[in-house]
Amino acid sequence: MKILDTTTEFADQVAVVTGGGSGIGQAIALRWAAAGGTVAVLGRRKDALEATVNRIAEAGGTAEAVVCDVRDHAGVAEAIDGVANRHGRIDALVNNAAGNFIAQAEDLSPNGWKAVTDIVLNGTFYCTHAAGRHMLAAGRGAVVNVVASYAWHGHPGTVHSAAAKGGVVAMTRTLAVEWAARGVRLNCIAPGPTETEGAGAALWPTPDARQGVLSSVPMARFASTDEIAESAAFLLSDRAAYVTGDVLVADGGQWLGKAIYTDPRAR
Ligand code: HXC
Repeated sequence: MKILDTTTEFADQVAVVTGGGSGIGQAIALRWAAAGGTVAVLGRRKDALEATVNRIAEAGGTAEAVVCDVRDHAGVAEAIDGVANRHGRIDALVNNAAGNFIAQAEDLSPNGWKAVTDIVLNGTFYCTHAAGRHMLAAGRGAVVNVVASYAWHGHPGTVHSAAAKGGVVAMTRTLAVEWAARGVRLNCIAPGPTETEGAGAALWPTPDARQGVLSSVPMARFASTDEIAESAAFLLSDRAAYVTGDVLVADGGQWLGKAIYTDPRAR
């Protein structure tokens, strides 16, 4: 049996991570670089992207910042072709960029719906379309899309995000089959509540809301961004060479833990 060396497993490989300037995206970029890979962090905010690049450079890794809004199809194509031209390859893509806020559907403006679905659903397709062409030409590549379990069980206040992430799961499964014989794998990770500034401000803005989220997690804690990055790294690596079209849920048991009958743990 061949034992894979996880400490250098991305050496000589190139990844693109959208939303790589903060939170989960930053942790995935750091994790990729820590295993020897070059990473292009792509996003709207130059200062945030540069903070990630600097952290990676300080640790001896290789990274670059690429300013781009994933909602801009032409801009995405140019940005991703630029990465491929500069580095000669794209081995991995992580569609992590997201926009989210809690809103009742009847209060959601068309523009609010559009902002979130454009980033999550259209942005994921634009990036996958652009990077996928380079992967298909090379006959190898791996894509990880960041979703949430409400993509399949739904959740009040998330109609825009849940619809978009449900679409991303369907996209992942469709392309997993379409591109399977051509060496390109696509999977999702579905993180549960993860300790980041962006998610906290949007999804648990008050101490009560935070406690409510916490009590919904059987493991009774938030995830760290490093824990989520580890799931992404696995799916991007050759350790997951036979895994495609799947969703790896890393949520501390949250979505399975919904109480319907009397919960014996509460007695
Ligand atoms: C209602 C809102 C709103 C809110 C924005 N809008 N915030 N509506 N409640 N809290 C509406 C605006 O009024 C506007 O509509 C429209 O959305 C677009 O807003 P803009 O700010 O002009 O757009 P933009 O600058 O493009 O911002 C996009 C965004 C923003 C999604 C709205 O929040 C963003 O870029 N966020 C990125 C970071 C982020 O959200 N991170 C959290 C991800 S956490 P009108 O009609 O007024 O023009 C995550 C985890 C999920 O996804 C899973 C957890 C388990």
